[in-house]
Amino acid sequence: MIDEDGAPAERVLAEILELRALDRPTHGGRLFAYVYDPAVPGLDELAAAAHAGSAHVNGLDPTAFPSLLAMENALVGAAARLLGGGPGTTAAEVVGSVTSGGTESLILAVKAARDARPELTAPRIVVPASGHAAFAKAAHLLGVTLDTVPVDPKTLRPAAADVAAAIRPETVLVACSAPSYAHGVIDPVAEIAAAAAAAGVRCHVDACFGGWTLPYLRRLGAPVPPFDFAVDGVTSISVDLHKYAYAPKGVSVLLHRDPALRAPQYFAYADWPGYTMVNPVLASTRSGGPIAAAYATLRHLGDAGYLRLAGLTRDAVAGLADAVRGVAGLRLMAEPESTVVCFTSTDPELDLFVLVDELAARGWHTQPQLSYADLPASVHLTVTASVAPRVAEFGPDLVAAVAAARAAGPVRLPDELRALATALTPDALTPDLVAGLAAGLGLGAGSDPAPTGGGALPERMALVNALLDAAPPALRERLLVEFVSLLQRPTY
Ligand SMILES: Cc1ncc(COP(=O)(O)O)c(C=O)c1O
Repeated sequence: MIDEDGAPAERVLAEILELRALDRPTHGGRLFAYVYDPAVPGLDELAAAAHAGSAHVNGLDPTAFPSLLAMENALVGAAARLLGGGPGTTAAEVVGSVTSGGTESLILAVKAARDARPELTAPRIVVPASGHAAFAKAAHLLGVTLDTVPVDPKTLRPAAADVAAAIRPETVLVACSAPSYAHGVIDPVAEIAAAAAAAGVRCHVDACFGGWTLPYLRRLGAPVPPFDFAVDGVTSISVDLHKYAYAPKGVSVLLHRDPALRAPQYFAYADWPGYTMVNPVLASTRSGGPIAAAYATLRHLGDAGYLRLAGLTRDAVAGLADAVRGVAGLRLMAEPESTVVCFTSTDPELDLFVLVDELAARGWHTQPQLSYADLPASVHLTVTASVAPRVAEFGPDLVAAVAAARAAGPVRLPDELRALATALTPDALTPDLVAGLAAGLGLGAGSDPAPTGGGALPERMALVNALLDAAPPALRERLLVEFVSLLQRPTY
């Protein structure tokens, strides 16, 4: 990796380009997860220039780098204004922080809630089962107990009464989603916030995924229910700029209704001989690159730009949902109310995991979601503005992929794999067993070496997904940790 004399710039860039060719396409409207592409000419170049200009600026100390402070304050102000806060609203004192992403925003919302109640020795949070996994991560990292409220298998939402019933004296935070990632549905925020307020508990609205686009969809006429600071009892909201604000990765905003609610989010430490540390967020040294890139993106797209992009997204969602409705054996998990199209199979002969592979073979990269509790396995499509011009191509390819998946038939897990998935406990997984499983699935060690260093991934993932689907969540977690760890091997 490190040449004796260093490699020329062109060669290094060529190498990176060669590696990038291994990736799924981040542009072109055919990747329905991980990326958010507005397909606005010149925006990438603008964001890259802004990023480069601030990449070495350090967010550790806002007094040394006031440019970052100014840009962060502007981003927080823009998010607050969009989400029912700021001058002239009932939430005029909204403050916030710029974080590296949705997970960090949620961890900090939980930290602020926990540290506001130092008298509690065993704090808890209440989160609908459809809440993002980052709440579980926050609970795990912060030593907080997670109380999960089931969602109705039809509406895919929690009942506010169940959320209210789950609140205990030790509850420090109640969370809900607007919308949820998996299915794109908006929780009953007003009822949940009222229940939290009645119990004197904070209520966080996780609008990381769609929070930037819901207000624009509403302006376009969609019946978006109240979910922001206009709702009494909502104490904090997270919204990711690297999702529907179309900024490059690394930027989310966590808003609090007032400064007192934010105060316990900070960490300060003076009990060492170095500089006194004060961090509003998890990281200490932070690059100014993502913040400057987000600032440039918001300034350039502007209100009219976001409204136009929301319109394109809405039309794409409608077109994709129509395509799904037109195929026998597929069913929408929910009528789309935001920017997600999610569907399941109603026909045992139509295996969704095979369908996902067939779609990928036709250049459409969708996201399989495993069955969970009462919910069947499903296919998730995060829809962004760049999908709009592709929609007409999706319908015929979906029909062809479904026909091919039916012809191939459902994945048949070999008996010994099924037995392992259903009977094995995570603790019983030995390195030998993992190696055997991985080899059987064509994963990691034992398969052809990949240019990335670790073992190669199989071209078709249906078998892997079928195995995971057959396993209970604790075993899924453990298997995935083992499989990913097989991929993450140093190259020398
Ligand atoms: C609703 C919701 N919350 C939180 C997150 C976590 O965001 P990140 O991946 O930026 O950490 C996501 C990501 O998809 C999300 O959809």
